[in-house]
Amino acid sequence: MRQLLTTTILSGLLLASAAVAEVPKGGWVFDSSPDYPGFTRLVIEEKKGQLSGKITSKWYGDLPLTDLHADGDNLVFKLYNGNPRVTMSDIVVKPEGKSVRMTGKVWYQDFDLTAHKGKRSELKALDFPTYPLPPKRVVTQKPLAPTPPMGWSSWNKFATDINDQTIREIADALVSSGLRDAGYTYVNIDDGWQGERDAQGNLHPNTNFPDMKALADYIHARGLKLGIYTSPGPKTCAGYNGSYGHIKQDANTFAAWGIDYLKYDLCSGEAFYSTAETVYATYQEMGEALNATDRDIVYSLCEYGRFDVGSWGRQVGGHLWRTTGDIEDKYDTMAKIGFDKNGVANHTGPNGWNDPDMLEIGNGGMSQDEYRTHMTLWAMMSAPLVLGNDVRHMTPETLALLTNKDVIAIDQDTLGAQGLPAKKDGTTEVWTKTLADGSTAVALFNRGDENTLISGTWADIKVKGTTVRDLWAHSDHRADEGYAYAVPKHGAVLLRVK
Ligand code: GLA
Repeated sequence: MRQLLTTTILSGLLLASAAVAEVPKGGWVFDSSPDYPGFTRLVIEEKKGQLSGKITSKWYGDLPLTDLHADGDNLVFKLYNGNPRVTMSDIVVKPEGKSVRMTGKVWYQDFDLTAHKGKRSELKALDFPTYPLPPKRVVTQKPLAPTPPMGWSSWNKFATDINDQTIREIADALVSSGLRDAGYTYVNIDDGWQGERDAQGNLHPNTNFPDMKALADYIHARGLKLGIYTSPGPKTCAGYNGSYGHIKQDANTFAAWGIDYLKYDLCSGEAFYSTAETVYATYQEMGEALNATDRDIVYSLCEYGRFDVGSWGRQVGGHLWRTTGDIEDKYDTMAKIGFDKNGVANHTGPNGWNDPDMLEIGNGGMSQDEYRTHMTLWAMMSAPLVLGNDVRHMTPETLALLTNKDVIAIDQDTLGAQGLPAKKDGTTEVWTKTLADGSTAVALFNRGDENTLISGTWADIKVKGTTVRDLWAHSDHRADEGYAYAVPKHGAVLLRVK
């Protein structure tokens, strides 16, 4: 019995070590790779029968191979890119003559790549630099956003199809349409402006932006402010150069150009900074770098709401922080991030705002009632109002939605409270928000697919007042006992009760 056991164990060990012996150990250099994730090398080691390894990517630096095991002559593993929402699937490496072939998927990218055995020097040249993070500190938060920032951003409408001329035309249109005077003052260039670094490491814009300083001057001359975008990672979300290893230098460059607002988007940094401590540290690092410049720069944190960012956003010097993934010009997405993921009430307030992402109003994917819900909801949340449409070409209805002074006043109320649901009943929601003058904003939302009547007593939602202004209908009436409004499907009514 004992002998049988020993033989079984022994042959098991032999089998295991035989399997390990065949798998492609050593350092491999990829012959080519898709831009994302830009794989450069694969290193597989075996110590005391234990396999371990890493893969290097231009987006993520060195990533450990997780769940690494042999399957016959093949190696199988998974990669975690730091994004908790990405499902990890098996990646397979198999020997093919003197090369190896690697097939699999990371996030949305399928790949089928070959790699050759790397010489020591070749492998060494692909070392990815790492940089220490600063020790934890609290960054002095400048009071640059007493009310939620308002402006425009290039991303929702133009994505990376942007250039100097378009930005100038947008600035002109903000002025001529009256949007600037309604409060929309930041003109934010999102992803896609970046070019290459020079020998000194200074980041330059790409050829679509011949002179950032001149563009900033143009924007400032029109009473507007200029925003820009970068990432703590080596790559931005659209694959442009990020600020990895150049944090201070880039902050100084932005200040020298005359930038007034920075959106700092985690992007490929999510692999490097995937814990609460490291995300804090990397946002702290840029917060400190911005403060060290001689400019006032609004600091917009974009890490999709991870690690309860609202609870520490101010401590890294942030003025607004995304609470969600990306908005889309679709009712369902807008409703999901607006109604269901609107951050935590007590984190929003003067100089620090929950940011459920930019507006889609005017981009054509929602009905007028749905856009009215979008604007009403964002105003109730004291959300930053950053336009995402082509303001050079707007229908009168879009312009009216965006410039309704009474609605903007709810968003910009100096108390800075975040409105919250006071009552939910099936597909209807009634939200309330306390305002600085003691009055209350009341929003009636119909999330259902049928027109409906939303009614109730003021007492039921703890609202007191004698007069009611209907802010979209521009009408005033007495408050009486309660409210009763016909609300179209996916629509909203916004009231100010005094
Ligand atoms: C991320 C952000 C978006 C936008 C893009 C740009 O997805 O969440 O708001 O900035 O990157 O690539």
